Amino acid sequence: MSVMFRKITPLILAGVVLAAPATASLADEELGGMPPAPGAEETYYACSACHSIKLVVQQGLSRESWEESLEWMVEEQEMEPLEPEDLKLILDYLSTYYGPDRKAQSGAIVKQ
Ligand code: HEC
Repeated sequence: MSVMFRKITPLILAGVVLAAPATASLADEELGGMPPAPGAEETYYACSACHSIKLVVQQGLSRESWEESLEWMVEEQEMEPLEPEDLKLILDYLSTYYGPDRKAQSGAIVKQ
């Protein structure tokens, strides 16, 4: 986990408790509006290298579909294959927050 993530985590946690709008906009700036959680940074940096992170966060896919989507990214779009531990982290993150029920959109953390 990077220094940046450690630095913002207490602020984000405080924001969840207080539902402070200022904290939500900090998260927006830091990771393109993605909920800060394990895997958020890895996902952001791995996936915003070629295209906007918006292309990723507008989806709501099952873990299986995310996996297929990343296979397609590697096979057809020349993405560097991810290390197994990063792949797991990113799939966990995406299927938790950007699954079919899109938790990332319903919480107090992310403003639309
Ligand atoms: C090496 C470049 C590259 C990387 C890295 C990359 N992608 Fe992509 N991705 C693409 C290209 C190219 C497209 C097609 C863009 C288009 O259609 O305009 C795309 C499209 C997508 C789409 C839209 C697919 C659709 O059906 O419209 C999703 C979702 C996606 N990428 C997810 C990801 C995720 C998640 C990551 C990180 C794990 C990632 N991408 C990393 C190149 C990349």
